[in-house]
Amino acid sequence: MSNVKFMSGENIPLEMHKVRMVQKVNLIPVEDRVKAIHEAGFNTFLLQNRDVFMDMLTDSGVNAMSQEQYAAMMRADDSYAGSETFYRLEAVLQDIFGMKYFLPAHQGRACENIIAQTLVKPGQVTVMNYHFTTTKAHITLNGGSVEEILTDEGLNIKSDAPFKGDLDIDKLKESIKRNGKENIAFVRIEAGTNLIGGQPVSLENMRQVSKICRAEGIQLVYDASLLGDNLYFIKIREAGYKDVDIKAITREIASLMDVLYFSARKLGSARGGGILCHDEKLFLKMRELVPLYEGFLTYGGMSVREMEALAVGLQETMDFDVINQTPIIVEALCNELLKTGVPVVTPPGGLGCHVDAMEFCSHIPQTQYPAGALATSIYIASGVRCMERGTLSEQRNPDGTEKLAEMELARIAVPRRVFTLSQVKYTGDRINWLFQNRHLIGGLEFVEEPTMLRFFFGRLKPIGNWPEVLAKKFREDFGDSL
Ligand code: F0G
Repeated sequence: MSNVKFMSGENIPLEMHKVRMVQKVNLIPVEDRVKAIHEAGFNTFLLQNRDVFMDMLTDSGVNAMSQEQYAAMMRADDSYAGSETFYRLEAVLQDIFGMKYFLPAHQGRACENIIAQTLVKPGQVTVMNYHFTTTKAHITLNGGSVEEILTDEGLNIKSDAPFKGDLDIDKLKESIKRNGKENIAFVRIEAGTNLIGGQPVSLENMRQVSKICRAEGIQLVYDASLLGDNLYFIKIREAGYKDVDIKAITREIASLMDVLYFSARKLGSARGGGILCHDEKLFLKMRELVPLYEGFLTYGGMSVREMEALAVGLQETMDFDVINQTPIIVEALCNELLKTGVPVVTPPGGLGCHVDAMEFCSHIPQTQYPAGALATSIYIASGVRCMERGTLSEQRNPDGTEKLAEMELARIAVPRRVFTLSQVKYTGDRINWLFQNRHLIGGLEFVEEPTMLRFFFGRLKPIGNWPEVLAKKFREDFGDSL
């Protein structure tokens, strides 16, 4: 894709696949979108797909699969124990990562449950580039806490740093000194760091972190859920890797880690999850939890069809023309928005385009959830469903006060190989319109607030009648257009 130049000189993303099965989508009128978001409690998680035009909530479990993945599903060996499918998947994982032991789990957070229960003791700290919502929830549930040691550049919205997901080596050394290595449950590196805008980690940084962890005897855990995007960025942004084989890079990463886990809803464009490790003792400890929470060791909560699709999907992840699809579309969407000055996280990362709600909605206080307000107004303006990644996605402090997020982002995810360029341009167009009318967007307040992972089921309401005012302006500007 990146190798094809257009005579016009324009930088147009070119899809390296063709569409052979389609799903019809609905674009309902703006007045109906306002009604739908009211019914969904101003929470995009609670919208129904029938009211959604483009589902850009997440890249999780919604990526387009290849014909080879579908074909592989037909040969699945359905069995409670000893399934051939399991051994096929295990062999693929061992080959790609060079790690000996594999434990299946039904999705990424299930891996986090097993890892946290095995490695975290009450009072211990886990040190990482940045938390992910479910990761942090499992660590705190087991009595641990999270310490984040991104480099200072990591949280700069506008940046040209190629690897904003890198861990700060000085902060790591200081943390080990301050906490004492016995009080650190593990160090975690998250590939394609999700909550700061899908930002990658350099291989050089992983090498340095691994060296320190090995010297101190601290376990190093790698969240490879967004590894596909991260591999792409290592290839194109890190000096010396342009011509290195993707599988060789993957092998090197895995050799630096003690534990590697992933959500196969992202990595491998399938569904499910898995944990890999080098050490037999650790494997046996974690293995006890698999039948308890997931299912027998040879399926771990996954359907055998999904396991077959995953085995093929992981092999396809080693193909540059497969993993470059999302980051290139993300960049195209970011560029579309930057043209009119919409504040987005730069450089563009993987996963999706991240709009900075702190600046977009600078008139909305953080306690009124600007990123939530922006996500819902994007839906009103376009029928595109995106996700709040800001204060709403945080958990309150133990004393009940709000934990204000460091970043307030509306994440417009780009599921792999799902949307066409015209759809992406439509999304950009509507967000550009919204930016011109941003003063019309207002804040949100909770009506029902769950205590745990509140962003999933929480219900909110707008402060004032801004959604109706916004819809009215849409009508004025777009006439009878949907
Ligand atoms: N780690 C990372 C980096 C993730 O992005 C996710 C999921 C998980 C772990 C948990 O995996 O969903 O299979 O249980 N991220 C999704 C998202 C939910 O929309 O960003 P899971």
